[in-house]
Amino acid sequence: MKFRLVLLKRLNPSLEIKWVFLMVFSSRKSPHFALVNFVASSCYREGLKLLTGAVNNFYFQNCKFCGLSLQISQKKVVPLESSKKRGNETHLIAMEQQVYHIPALLSETLAGLAIKSDGTYVDVTFGGGGHSRAILAELGPKGRLIGMDQDMDAWANRLDDERFTFAHGNFAYLKNFLRYYGVDGVDGIVADLGVSFHHFDDVERGFTFRADAPLDMRMNRSASFHAAELLNTYDLERLANVLYLYGELRQSRRLAAAIVKARPLSTTGQLVDVVKPLLKPSQEKKELSMVFQALRIEVNGELDALAKLLNQSREVLNPGGRLAIITYHSLEDRLVKNFMRSGNIEGRQEKDFYGRVNTPWRVVNNKVIAPSDDEVARNPRSRSAKLRVAELVTPFEKSK
Ligand SMILES: C[S@@+](CC[C@H](N)C(=O)[O-])C[C@H]1O[C@@H](n2cnc3c(N)ncnc32)[C@H](O)[C@@H]1O
Repeated sequence: MKFRLVLLKRLNPSLEIKWVFLMVFSSRKSPHFALVNFVASSCYREGLKLLTGAVNNFYFQNCKFCGLSLQISQKKVVPLESSKKRGNETHLIAMEQQVYHIPALLSETLAGLAIKSDGTYVDVTFGGGGHSRAILAELGPKGRLIGMDQDMDAWANRLDDERFTFAHGNFAYLKNFLRYYGVDGVDGIVADLGVSFHHFDDVERGFTFRADAPLDMRMNRSASFHAAELLNTYDLERLANVLYLYGELRQSRRLAAAIVKARPLSTTGQLVDVVKPLLKPSQEKKELSMVFQALRIEVNGELDALAKLLNQSREVLNPGGRLAIITYHSLEDRLVKNFMRSGNIEGRQEKDFYGRVNTPWRVVNNKVIAPSDDEVARNPRSRSAKLRVAELVTPFEKSK
């Protein structure tokens, strides 16, 4: 299906396919789940809307048969009069597809990694597996890929390929994980930081202000610290710091004071009700997302994990190995930029006798790589992505 659509569009780029219609006659247990998911994800990638038909009000949510882990939510159900006459309750369902994630800067990241076909690579933010799938496609039979994610939901997207290993864990402990999996050194590390679409789309996880849900925001659901604990236990000063540093919110103290006054909070809806009156109506959505972003960064210790990943990268990369990192906000980007330019996250530059900066890294792209207008139009959530790539020139001397 995907190939036919792509082919059709390639043969005739001016051809405007906007809708795809698919009729499925199946029972609840039918593997047609896989077919529908496959078609739906192809349509999603191609920017096409899918209209599908189903018998007996059967609609599709999580695919249990294919690895795509695509979720489709029901939008509009229109019973078909003619089918009732035949004794079947056939419904036409206009569906909105939710994919687990659409990878940002995919071709740029692949180019940055300069993949060796027999190399070993680690994707420390596996998510929906978009970057991993593309890396695996470039590896030969001797290549190896480890996909890591701290969210066990990502496991459903694991790749069915003997060269691939899924590791559930935090990349802050990358070195130990690699040792556990018997990997001595890797030729490339890719990190696509932050949360996936899935985290926002699964509203029960509390990452979005657009729905009322428990104040959770943990990427790793076996961790004990969640957003409710943060909001109900941090003192005013500490809470204001989180909002100011990670959300860049100028009115952080006022917001923190309102939260402290309204305690205890247990749902995202309550949090929104408390902070909304303090936000400028014209900036409301932007600032609410900054509040949620700040809390999420703190709940998941995101900057600390990134610093640990960067500091271990030199120890796990082989000479000439590449480090490719995609960031989504300025604090992350600053850490990565400092690290790649100077070899430390503070950006402390140590110079040699000739005034050259002493660093084990060669920066591959001096200018940060951002998505093209075309990519942003196709995938608006990629708009703040920034890619930086560095090559390890002076490897870490391992103690014997
Ligand atoms: C932006 S998504 C990556 C999407 C992926 N590149 C793709 O193509 O589908 C980030 C993923 O990294 C995971 N993640 C974030 N921080 C992590 C950490 N410290 N350790 C392990 N996984 C992490 C999240 O759970 C999420 O699934």
